[in-house]
Amino acid sequence: MRQEIELAYVGVEIPDPSTLTAFFADVIGLAPGEPGAEGSTSWRNDDAVHRVIVDRGPANDLAFLGFAARDAQAFEAVTARLADAGFDLSDGTLEDRRGRRVGRLVRTSAPWGVPVEIVLDLQRASTPFSSPLAPGGFLTEGVGLGHAVVATPAFDEADRFVVEGLGLVQSDWLEMEIAAGINLEVRFYHGNSRHHSLALARAPFELPQKLHHIMFETKERDDVGAAFDRAWATDLPIPNGLGRHDNDGMFSFYVASPAGFQVEVGHGARVITDDWADNRRYDRISAWGHQPLRQG
Ligand SMILES: [Fe+2]
Repeated sequence: MRQEIELAYVGVEIPDPSTLTAFFADVIGLAPGEPGAEGSTSWRNDDAVHRVIVDRGPANDLAFLGFAARDAQAFEAVTARLADAGFDLSDGTLEDRRGRRVGRLVRTSAPWGVPVEIVLDLQRASTPFSSPLAPGGFLTEGVGLGHAVVATPAFDEADRFVVEGLGLVQSDWLEMEIAAGINLEVRFYHGNSRHHSLALARAPFELPQKLHHIMFETKERDDVGAAFDRAWATDLPIPNGLGRHDNDGMFSFYVASPAGFQVEVGHGARVITDDWADNRRYDRISAWGHQPLRQG
């Protein structure tokens, strides 16, 4: 298995970052990171200094994705591969590296229209992670913060960027008719033992938000149930109640954040191994559950 990169951080831009504070802290159970400039906030699900960065701005969507290389050799390999595949790269400035709290940073632009940053040496926070709401903690060691799912009409070029540029490997894919004449196609990619660090959904046109969801994986199954109870106690939409995905086997639910994009809280996904030979089509999202429970 090629183990070069993991999802280091997800950046979102919304008009008022404080509107996500109660959601991330009191529903999902993340811990606050240090606040940044101009009212930006950050969130942690482990000992890294930040995992979600919420900047102030009009986009109301994904603003950037960071992938951390496991070492300098991997950093060189990934950036060289991106350049060879024809994607323009620029070196991050000192200010960029300070802002992202990393040692090295190279930036490119993904076909879905946001910057992707390859980074090295994401700093650890000055205090260990702890969350009273997720007492078992989150699974991140060697697998990054979780996964992100992006919807894009530039699906084929995005697939090429991910596979030939980033060097992620397709784990499997989902292809099904979700309504008469409406197809869903999602490709899932790994860069470490997490079943997918990134997935791409084919969008028929540019959707209001590219970011479909961010997933955080708890180490304890009960922490998913407790998060579901907290989500249920709010009036936030719950697009998918508890269920188990067919492909990655994850037990999870989805809650919509106040910014619109969703968060999946899950546990117990399948793990990619060196002899992974299950890159195949799935024709259903879930083995059971994931019912639409409460709409916005
Ligand atoms: Fe997911």
